[in-house]
Amino acid sequence: MTKLWGGNYEAEPDRLFWEFNRSFPFDRRLMREEIAASRAYALALGKCRALPMKDAAKLDRGLARVLAKYEANPAYADIDVEDVHSFVETRLEEEIGSLAGQGHLGRSRNEQSVTALRLFIRGAIDDVRGGLQELIRTLVSRALEGAAAPMPGYTHTREAEPITFGHWAGAHAWALVRDFERLADTRVRVNVLPLGSGALAGTALPLKREALARALGFAAVSENALDAISDRDFAAEFVFVLAQTQTHLSRLAEDLIHYSSRPYGFLALPDAFTTGSSLMPQKKNPDSMELVRGKASRTTGSVVRLLALTSGIPVGYQKDFQEDKEAVFDALDAVLPSIMVATGVVRGVTLNREAMKKAAAAEGMMAASLAVALAREGVPFRKAHGMVGSMVTDAVKANFPLGDLARATLKGRHPRIAARMKDFFDPEKAVAAKAARGGTAPAAVRASLRAARARVR
Ligand code: ARG
Repeated sequence: MTKLWGGNYEAEPDRLFWEFNRSFPFDRRLMREEIAASRAYALALGKCRALPMKDAAKLDRGLARVLAKYEANPAYADIDVEDVHSFVETRLEEEIGSLAGQGHLGRSRNEQSVTALRLFIRGAIDDVRGGLQELIRTLVSRALEGAAAPMPGYTHTREAEPITFGHWAGAHAWALVRDFERLADTRVRVNVLPLGSGALAGTALPLKREALARALGFAAVSENALDAISDRDFAAEFVFVLAQTQTHLSRLAEDLIHYSSRPYGFLALPDAFTTGSSLMPQKKNPDSMELVRGKASRTTGSVVRLLALTSGIPVGYQKDFQEDKEAVFDALDAVLPSIMVATGVVRGVTLNREAMKKAAAAEGMMAASLAVALAREGVPFRKAHGMVGSMVTDAVKANFPLGDLARATLKGRHPRIAARMKDFFDPEKAVAAKAARGGTAPAAVRASLRAARARVR
């Protein structure tokens, strides 16, 4: 038990409690961030003459050696310390002796832990945005291949109207574009320096907090020390955006699972991202996409964890906060690999254009276009809707093609519509008609896809 405190104690901590209290098993993941912040802090102490510059430089070099040793040798971490902050100070003492304690001058672990977490999340945001950029680009390039390929569009999982493959893939791309942008917004609130807040009241040292912020790449400095050490909304916000991203990925996964299943057969998932069955030799299961879908439970769980953790506790540091880190790590560990797996699947998916087109030609899906065309001929839309609806019922009852029945029914009073019947029932013509911005006509789809790609440049 190596501790940073204990002068006022007569007994050692209970062993069970010591283990319960320790965060080093998980907060060692903040090692790089903790050491970066400690190095910048040591130099800031030197610059404001709280420490001789040569001591500050010695601290800085010692901290760099601790990180190098940690990264070179996993066993270096095997000591019985409380948390990552205690670890660094303990190992630093081995490097530079009792001067190590001076790196803690005026500094509290309360501000250290939140500083390291902010640095970690900032890096994680950049990683997730990089992954999303790649996924969005991949989705867009696959979508452009199928910008004119008709497929059925569904609502309520029932055939609705024909769309194109590009329109479908673009829908998923745009959802992810918003997550990409949300992460940039979140980054602004994450990238604020809490260091210099002390335990809660601020610092009595003449620290130049703005310069310290610049040294660590922070764009701003916290304005209230008590808030700065009590604030975890930046973490909750980050985890929410991760949860929203994973929710979008889970919907993409769900579509891919269904469209690659036998009754649809629109797509084939790449072998490299499916698994076989130990019993049924014919199987190629979409496990990759099922796990992406299932991991949304983790990210949603992390949002709930952080909000529950931080609601109703008093302002000021509470040990409860130690529970914040695993909620963040767990969400990140779900999202980053999910993005990469989804990218691999989207890259490798094969389109079955014939199957999509055949399904897109189901006659019922043209009913809405027919009603709109009748309305444009002067039939009130509700009436046109009713007319086409009863034609659909009659066609089903008579087991007769809807197009032929509609032609026969409309020939007398709406000869122009009756003459265009072939056009309504051609899925290529049906999609081409939806030419307004955002619609499924191939030209509109291409423009939309290029716009999505430009947003992640
Ligand atoms: N391990 C702690 C955490 O993760 C560091 C802060 C401890 N501060 C304290 N006053 N006990 O939050």
